[in-house]
Amino acid sequence: MNEFVNKIFHADARDLLAKLPSESIDAVICDPMYGTAKNYEYEWGIDPANGDPELHWEYHKPIYEECRRVLKPGGALAWGQGAKFCEHFQDWLGNHRVWTITRFRPKGKSATGHAWVVQTREQKPIPMPDRDSLVICDNVGPIRKLHPCIKMVEELKFVVEELTTPGDIILDCCCGLGSTLLAAEQLDRRWIGCDISQRYSQIAKLRMDNLRQAQEKLRTEKDFIADRC
Ligand SMILES: C[S@@+](CC[C@H](N)C(=O)[O-])C[C@H]1O[C@@H](n2cnc3c(N)ncnc32)[C@H](O)[C@@H]1O
Repeated sequence: MNEFVNKIFHADARDLLAKLPSESIDAVICDPMYGTAKNYEYEWGIDPANGDPELHWEYHKPIYEECRRVLKPGGALAWGQGAKFCEHFQDWLGNHRVWTITRFRPKGKSATGHAWVVQTREQKPIPMPDRDSLVICDNVGPIRKLHPCIKMVEELKFVVEELTTPGDIILDCCCGLGSTLLAAEQLDRRWIGCDISQRYSQIAKLRMDNLRQAQEKLRTEKDFIADRC
C-alpha cells in the first residue's frame, strides 16, 4: 500500500481502484460527478450523464462497487451526490443516511443541492453526528474559478473527523482540487487521491505542497520559540 499512500494520481478512478487490494482502505470519501446538469462540459470532457440518471449510474456504479471492495469490513463510505437524483439513492446505494452539511455562500446565501450519502461497506446507514452540522464556510476565493464544484476544506474536515481516526487511510478517487485530501492531511490521516483531469490533479498536488510547506514553517517557528522561552 505504501506506493499509493499520501499520493495524488492523474488517473481514471477505475484504473486506480483496480490496483488497490481488497479491504485496504478505512474510509472512502468521494465526491464524484453529480450528473445532473445538461450539456455540461468539465475540464476533462463532456459529462457522460448529461442530466440522465441512468447514464449517471451506468458510469458511477463500477466505481462505487470497487470502492466498497477496497474498504475494510465496517469501513465508512461518504459519497457526494446531487440532491436532484435523491429518489434513486436507495436503488443505487442501498441503505444509507443522507448528511446535509449546511454551507453558506458569500453574502449569507445558503448553498443547496449537495448531499453526502453515508454508510458502511455493508451498506449500514451511519447516522448524522449529534454535534452541530452547521459548517460556516467562507468564500473559497479565486480558486473557485479553477473548478466548477470545489468543496471547502472545512466541510470535508467535518466528514473526515466523524468517519475516521488519526492514521486511517482515506481514499478520494474523484478528488478534483483535493479538498478531501487537504482535510485528511490536516487531521493526521493518511490519504490516496486521483482525478481523471490532469489539470485538477496537478492543482491538487500544488495545494498539498503549499499546505505541507505552511505546516513545516509553523513547526520551525514553534521550535524557534520553544528554544528561546
Ligand atoms: C464533483 S468534482 C470533485 C470536486 C472535489 N471534491 C473538490 O473539492 O475539488 C468530481 C470530479 O470527478 C472527476 N472525475 C470524473 N470522472 C472520473 C473518473 N472516472 N476517475 C477519476 N476522476 C473522475 C472530475 O474530473 C471532477 O474533478
